[in-house]
Amino acid sequence: MSILNDLSNDTVIFISGTPCTGKTTVAIELNDYLSDNGFNSKLIKINDFAIENDLVLGEDPDKFYKVIDIDKLNDCLNREINNFLSNDTEGSIKVLIVEGHLSHLCDGADKMIVLRLNPSILEERLKERNYSKSKIEENLESEALAVCSAEAYDIYGEKAHEIDVSDKSIEETRDLILEIVTGNLESPLGLIDFMEWFLK
Ligand SMILES: Nc1ncnc2c1ncn2[C@@H]1O[C@H](COP(=O)(O)OP(=O)(O)OP(=O)(O)O)[C@@H](O)[C@H]1O
Ligand SMILES: [Mg+2]
Repeated sequence: MSILNDLSNDTVIFISGTPCTGKTTVAIELNDYLSDNGFNSKLIKINDFAIENDLVLGEDPDKFYKVIDIDKLNDCLNREINNFLSNDTEGSIKVLIVEGHLSHLCDGADKMIVLRLNPSILEERLKERNYSKSKIEENLESEALAVCSAEAYDIYGEKAHEIDVSDKSIEETRDLILEIVTGNLESPLGLIDFMEWFLK
């Protein structure tokens, strides 16, 4: 309960990362945990949000990714964030969690969290999802090269943080996110290095 005592302001948390790093899983856990502990917590899954708001421009050739209008997504999402934060919740603290691989390309987060996963673990998870060989390679390289983190840094600078979730349970990752959000843990970008995966 101690970390939650430090969560005393309305907060918008974005969770991004390479596909299959565990964004949706930990975001659901975090949202439930906050709701169970009296926060006014809401989760936006950005892919669903884009579909609901008719922002899909097409599908990529592999049909694994939808091509989404990022400018419109950013506008829609920020309207939603402003609506949420302006709700009168009679004193309970509002926490909006936005999760998904496109979230780091949008504005509006107070804290931007990028999940990082050792490519050898990521490879197993991607294979279970039946991604094509080329999509698997593309995602593993993106992870090893920290593409999401670099993109997040472009928009968020010091407000962007990374967590290595390779050896973490869902609850441990949830608590690390809360420590970052409450300012108890720095976890800046640039300390996680998966480059050795290229040498295997
Ligand atoms: N901490 C964890 N330990 C072990 N397995 C995990 C953990 N977190 C997530 N997983 C598993 O990894 C897989 C991918 O998780 P999840 O769907 O949450 O990823 P994602 O980042 O949301 O992926 P996508 O970008 O495709 O939406 C799931 O099978 C999930 O059960
Ligand atoms: Mg997901």
